[in-house]
Amino acid sequence: MSVFVSKLKVAILGFGTVGSSVARILCDLAPEGIELTHIYNRNIDRKRVDWVPSSVQWTEDFDTVLNSDVSILLELVGGLDPAGSWVRRALEAGKSVVTANKKLIAFHGIELEKLARSRNAHLRYGAAVAGGIPVIPGLQQGLAGDQVTRIEGILNGTCNFILSKMEEGAEFAEVLKEAQGHGYAEADPTEDVDGFDARAKLVILSRLALRADIDPNEVPCRSIREVSAIDFDYARELDCTIRQIARAELRGGDVLASVGPMLVPRASPLAWSRGTENTVLVGGHYGGDVVFSGHGAGGHPTAVAVVSDVIGIAHGSRAIDLPSKKTAIGGEFLLRHSIRFVVRDQPGIIAEIALALAEQRINIHAISQKPGYGKDSLPFVVTVEPCAASALHRALTRIGNLTCLIEKPFDLQILEPEERV
Ligand SMILES: NC(=O)c1ccc[n+]([C@@H]2O[C@H](COP(=O)([O-])OP(=O)(O)OC[C@H]3O[C@@H](n4cnc5c(N)ncnc54)[C@H](OP(=O)(O)O)[C@@H]3O)[C@@H](O)[C@H]2O)c1
Repeated sequence: MSVFVSKLKVAILGFGTVGSSVARILCDLAPEGIELTHIYNRNIDRKRVDWVPSSVQWTEDFDTVLNSDVSILLELVGGLDPAGSWVRRALEAGKSVVTANKKLIAFHGIELEKLARSRNAHLRYGAAVAGGIPVIPGLQQGLAGDQVTRIEGILNGTCNFILSKMEEGAEFAEVLKEAQGHGYAEADPTEDVDGFDARAKLVILSRLALRADIDPNEVPCRSIREVSAIDFDYARELDCTIRQIARAELRGGDVLASVGPMLVPRASPLAWSRGTENTVLVGGHYGGDVVFSGHGAGGHPTAVAVVSDVIGIAHGSRAIDLPSKKTAIGGEFLLRHSIRFVVRDQPGIIAEIALALAEQRINIHAISQKPGYGKDSLPFVVTVEPCAASALHRALTRIGNLTCLIEKPFDLQILEPEERV
C-alpha cells in the first residue's frame, strides 16, 4: 500500500545540463508520490523534448509556476540573480525549494534557510557540493554525531581534470582548451581555475561540518594558472602530485581556510582523484577521517542528488538543523613549501635566496635541480621547513628583485598534517 495520499507536484526551473537530467530521471524512474508538472526556461520553445509526458506544462513565465499548485521548485538555473529572487519568492509563498546552486547557498544560504523555516517549507541543496557524491547529507545526518574539526577537498572537477592531465606532461593552456572542448570548462574559466567555485563549496561545507559561518570573500584563493608541467616533475621527487585543494580547519575560536594548488602526497586519498572526480576528506574528533569520493559534476550525477532531495521531502524527512555561528578567518597554516625558481645561472644565487629566507626565520629543507637545462634558463626547486605563507611571501618579494630571475618564483604548500612535519 502506498504511503502517499496525493502526489507532490514538482517544477523544474532551468532546463539545461542538470535540469534536463533531473527531468530524465523523474520520467524514467517515476518516483512514488512525485509528479513533474512544469518546466520553466527562457525561450522555452528551443527546449521542448518529446520524452517528457504531454501533461507537463512548458513555460517561460515564472509566475505561472509560482501561482500553480506546485509544492517543490527545483532551481537549476544557477547564479545569484534572478535565481535568488525566484527562490525567495517561492519560499515566501510557502513552497519548498531544491537547488544545486552553490553560489546562492554560499552567499545567502543562512537567510534562505531562515525564510524556509518561517514558512514551514524545505530548502535542500544536496547537489550544491560535489554533485552526485552525498557529502551534504553525509554531514547533515551520518556525521552529525561527531565534532568535525577539518575538511580537505577536491571540490572542482574542472581543475582536477586540468591538473590530472598536466600530471601526464601537458601544459595548462592546452589542457584548458581540451577541457573547454569537452564542456568541462566554461569559455571564461575564472570561477573554476581561480578557485571561486571551490571556495563557495568550502563555505557551505564549513557551515555544515565545522558549524562555522565564514565569509566567502575572506577565504584566500590562489589560481592554478601558474602551475606548470615541470612542477609535476619536481612533485614526483617528493612523492607528491598537485591538486586544487579547498581546506578549512577549526583552530581555537577561528577557522583557517584556503583554496589553491597544493602538493599532495601520493599516499593521500586526495591524490587519487582522476579527471573530473571529486574527493572530500572530513576529519572528526571522535570518528576519525571519513572520505567521500565519486563524480562531482555532470548532468546525471548532479541530478541524482537533486532527485534524492525531492524524494526526501516527499517522504517527510526534515533536514537536520545544524546551527552555525559567524566565525572569522584567522591565522595561517604552518606547512612545508616547495618553491620553483628559474634563473640565468651565476654564482651566489643560493646564498641570496638563503639570506632572504633566513631573514624571515625560514629554514631550507632541500634543494633539487634536474639535469638537462641550459645555464641561461635554469629551473631548480627549494623546499623549506614549515612556515607561514605570509613570511614566505615577504622573502619571495625580496628574492624577486634578483636580476638573475627569468620568472617570478612560484611556491606550493605541501598538504601534510602539521604535527607530522
Ligand atoms: N553542470 C554540472 O555539472 C553541475 C554540477 C553541480 C551543480 N551545478 C549547478 O546546477 C545549476 C545548473 O547548472 P547547469 O550546468 O545545468 O547550467 P546550464 O546547463 O547553463 O543550465 C541552466 C539553464 O537555465 C536557463 N537559464 C539561465 N538563465 C535564465 C534566465 N534568466 N531565465 C530563464 N532561464 C534561464 C538556461 O537557459 P539557456 O539555454 O537559455 O541559457 C539553461 O537552460 C547551477 O547552479 C550549477 O552551479 C551544475
